[in-house]
Amino acid sequence: MNFGKKILCIGAGYVGGPTMAVIALKCPQYKVTVVDINEDKIRQWNSDQLPIYEPGLDGIVKKARGLNLFFSTDIKGCIKDADIIFVSVNTPTKTFGLGAGMAPDLQYWEKTAREILESSEGSKIIVEKSTLPVKTAQAMEGILKTNENDSCFEVVCNPEFLAEGTAIQDLLEPDRVLIGSHQTDSGLKAAEEIVKIYANWVPKEKIITTNLWSSELSKLVANAFLAQRISSINSISALCEKTEADISEISFAIGSDRRIGSKFLNASVGFGGSCFKKDILNLVYIAESYGLDEVAEYWEMVVKINEYQQERFVARIVNAMFNTAVDKKIAIFGFAFKANTGDTRESPAKYIVKKLLEEKAILSITDPQALTNARMDLAGMDGQIAFEADPYKAANEASAIVLITEWDEFKRLDYDMIYKKMRKPALIFDGRNILDHQTLFSLGFDVYPIGKPSLTHSH
Ligand code: UDX
Ligand code: ADP
Repeated sequence: MNFGKKILCIGAGYVGGPTMAVIALKCPQYKVTVVDINEDKIRQWNSDQLPIYEPGLDGIVKKARGLNLFFSTDIKGCIKDADIIFVSVNTPTKTFGLGAGMAPDLQYWEKTAREILESSEGSKIIVEKSTLPVKTAQAMEGILKTNENDSCFEVVCNPEFLAEGTAIQDLLEPDRVLIGSHQTDSGLKAAEEIVKIYANWVPKEKIITTNLWSSELSKLVANAFLAQRISSINSISALCEKTEADISEISFAIGSDRRIGSKFLNASVGFGGSCFKKDILNLVYIAESYGLDEVAEYWEMVVKINEYQQERFVARIVNAMFNTAVDKKIAIFGFAFKANTGDTRESPAKYIVKKLLEEKAILSITDPQALTNARMDLAGMDGQIAFEADPYKAANEASAIVLITEWDEFKRLDYDMIYKKMRKPALIFDGRNILDHQTLFSLGFDVYPIGKPSLTHSH
């Protein structure tokens, strides 16, 4: 088949894979190829067992793969061939050197920029897709300008706003698509090329074009605002646990104010995921590097409250178990950082499990999609851990259930049957407030929600 423009995406992860699958589906006139250095990942993208779990993704990949969607490991060849290159490689937080623990580790980005430079001929548009700190485009251009052949590049920023678990829906019906570019003739022309792709299915008024720096910063700020809402409500949940107030009632009451809105007000054991903490720390790092200490401190508190929330949760568990979890079996319901994904990056489950192992508890972890990642995350950790696909088996003979991820599966379990097979007193800690606490209490459980008084029989 003769295609028009050729799109390449470097990085076949949680962002690159679903985004390119949807672009391919909606734009049959483009040839879309996704490459990755990880050969195993590419093999999985070409199989029936995709490397990530995302509702709706399988069907779209099956429809487009082989027609105009391809997964390949030939990075050099594909770069040479492409007109538009999306870069969606990982940008974890630096663990070493200057800015360790805060600044993003841009080694994968720089490597990619150099690969593009080495294998390019002619002119190409480079699209930043990974979450990156402000002014990355400038760094990217710095590398690309060192070219000695006649290739020429225009860097455009098109931040991704998809949330895991709803990625396909978010891509099909985005609130907005943001495209940042230099406000020069060539910059605006490049931005127009990217607008053209999305205009195949996104209404024009939802496609926002800005200057390069605004689009880069918007991504960090959007995530910081969302995370801030969660930390705000979580901070109030601590106050609720000390009083007669109920955090769900407060969320509902304040969320009914249209100026506040009801989303992202669910108190929880804390937010996780690959973006929130990393993006806020990027923001903090940028603010600090410009000497804006108050701004940095303001946003850093969002992360601190998130850590505080997890610490409080563990302390409540140990405290309720008569201050000792030694040799007690605890079932961990959920390891993913949220429901409908197998992703465990920055999941509060990791911290909670680590702390409970330090208390010498015996853990049985269950999760509908995240057990493979959980196994990898916990490899080498001292202590007794079992991984159990069946939640009933995970809870068998346990003294407590600790619910961390809000999977629907956990709402539908037969808690009467579970209660009967647990050691007594049987405790349940609902880190997401998704269970029917009154019913659990009447079945015999001692129930510990987030941000509400506990319901206990014994004390
Ligand atoms: C986020 C942004 O939503 C998305 O726009 C961006 O592109 C990437 O980062 P994601 O991390 O996939 O997406 O998930 P999100 O739904 O935002 O949830 C993040 C965390 O906050 C999860 O751990 C979730 O459980 C938690 N959360 C969310 C709460 O604790 N309470 C809420 O009310 C909402
Ligand atoms: P995200 O959530 O941002 O999509 P992931 O870690 O899921 O992050 O995906 C990033 C992908 O980028 C990984 O599959 C990784 O192997 C790939 N990657 C990193 N560096 C390169 C590179 N230089 N060339 C090709 N792929 C790369």
